[in-house]
Amino acid sequence: MCGITGYIGREKQTKDIIKLLKKLEYRGYDSAGYAGFQNGKFLSQKSVGNIDKLLNKVPDNEVVSLMISHTRWATNGASNEINAHPHISSRNKWAVVHNGIIENCEELKSKFNLKTKGETDTEVFCELLDKLNIKNIDEFIAAANILEGSFAIAAICEGLPNTMFLAKEKSPLYVAECGGDFIVASDPICFDGFSKNCYGLNDGEFAEICGGKIVFYNRQKMVVSKQAVQMGCEYESANKQNFPHFMLKEIMEEKAAILNQISVYESTKVLERFDDKFLNQFDDIKFIGCGTAYHAGLMAAKFVNKILNKPASAEIASEFIYNEPNFINQKTLYFFISQSGETADTIEAMKLVKKSTAVSVALTNVLYSTVSKLADFVLPVAAAVEIAVASTKAYVCMLSATYLFCNYFLGKNKFEIAKTKLRAVAQKILNFNTEQIDSIAAKLKDKNMAVFIGKDMDYISAKEAALKLKEVSYINATAYPSGELKHGFLAMVENGTPLFVFLNQNKILSKTLSSKNEAESRGAKSIIYSNKTIDGEVIFVDEEDEILSQILVASQAQYLAYRVSILKNINPDQPRNLAKSVTVE
Ligand code: G6P
Repeated sequence: MCGITGYIGREKQTKDIIKLLKKLEYRGYDSAGYAGFQNGKFLSQKSVGNIDKLLNKVPDNEVVSLMISHTRWATNGASNEINAHPHISSRNKWAVVHNGIIENCEELKSKFNLKTKGETDTEVFCELLDKLNIKNIDEFIAAANILEGSFAIAAICEGLPNTMFLAKEKSPLYVAECGGDFIVASDPICFDGFSKNCYGLNDGEFAEICGGKIVFYNRQKMVVSKQAVQMGCEYESANKQNFPHFMLKEIMEEKAAILNQISVYESTKVLERFDDKFLNQFDDIKFIGCGTAYHAGLMAAKFVNKILNKPASAEIASEFIYNEPNFINQKTLYFFISQSGETADTIEAMKLVKKSTAVSVALTNVLYSTVSKLADFVLPVAAAVEIAVASTKAYVCMLSATYLFCNYFLGKNKFEIAKTKLRAVAQKILNFNTEQIDSIAAKLKDKNMAVFIGKDMDYISAKEAALKLKEVSYINATAYPSGELKHGFLAMVENGTPLFVFLNQNKILSKTLSSKNEAESRGAKSIIYSNKTIDGEVIFVDEEDEILSQILVASQAQYLAYRVSILKNINPDQPRNLAKSVTVE
């Protein structure tokens, strides 16, 4: 988390450079800041809150030719101006922005007797550079080599007003060049309108930008040669167009995203690499991810069970990491699901699987991401850039992708039928009854809690719907397998407790209805997502296929969460305490 940008080149308006940073707000928005040079002296501003607050503080007509800036998602230390980046060292020698966590910062602090004003690990490195009188790239690399943890760092030094130093370990860092001017960023979406090509630093790489040139180095301070490449990100998706929020825009893009998912899987060689024998090598499939991507994994495992009649399961990446390493099995196919492809927990889980030489597949929306680079096979999620913190179109594309993947192994005819059915789902996905959902949102907005129940796939839809509501409305939404309600959670049900019931599968119908009745007898008020005719407040799911109905349900639940956030005056694109790309473990 956290986003960093840097600029070095001809003089530019500070405000224009900071606007680049706005594209990284999805990575965190607790505080923001910048530092640059003017007449050989540091100039800097910081503010708590998002980048608009920072922009208000920037003097009009201020220009810089070297600048680093940062948008923060607080890890070490509260969200205040002292902890905001850039950190400027006590003797005003160095300014540093950093994304990641320096794990040995306490040790460094005592070993080098470093004094800091705030609580961040970044400030420790900044003071270290100052204390060690670092003056050139070799010394900078030596200092950065002492760091443990994850970092993308951009640093500038008072004695070197035309130089920027970069370091990269585990957190993403890219550089683009245009006519001798350079932009540095955590994500190539910042290069929109500047350059289509960019350099991606690998772990353990460093760079010095000076005099219109960039030179890359490895940990041994040897020069590394690198080609600028096209990253293939769709810059134009990264703006809101006429929508009030990215979250709404991204829900409204779901029809196009699913159709795109189908065409990517049919028109390219993506699936053709998996021949008939491929799946037979494996006894089972494990899906690994975090947050919404983990839910997509849970659902994908059900698809594998139901469509391919093969064992499959899903695990949260941060839990998988702490399993006994000998449980990683060559006979298991490991699927890593990640919208961003940069989630630290998912990457760590993937590294463990790679170490044991088991086969890994990345299912990701970002083809230049770390997860893509590490995987044996990459399956694209064709959702295009997703900016809102709460994942929407990427989730429905993850379900669409795994549905297509499973059906692909059933042969040409069944694959064709699957594509046709999925196309029909795409056509229906935005046809929900917005008036009904608005009126449910109006009743929900003042509630403190809500319960979401279902069984089997419906339970997973309940989990994802609850997560969506929690993320953007702060209502304590809890998902329960309907059969478990009576084993504890019923104690929480009061008069008027909203109960969302997911009922799209025949085999679970009567059992989930019993759980609903038990909760209603204790005062719960039900809202039912169903493709069946059922009495009560029903949000109709216009899809008989039990697997595909889960895609339609997701979209309706996302829209409901969106509406509640709007009624509660919450910005759904930037919910409190969260960030889209979580690049720390
Ligand atoms: C964060 C985001 C979630 C996302 C999760 C996994 O927690 O707020 O929306 O589902 O990370 O992200 P990934 O990029 O790996 O899918």
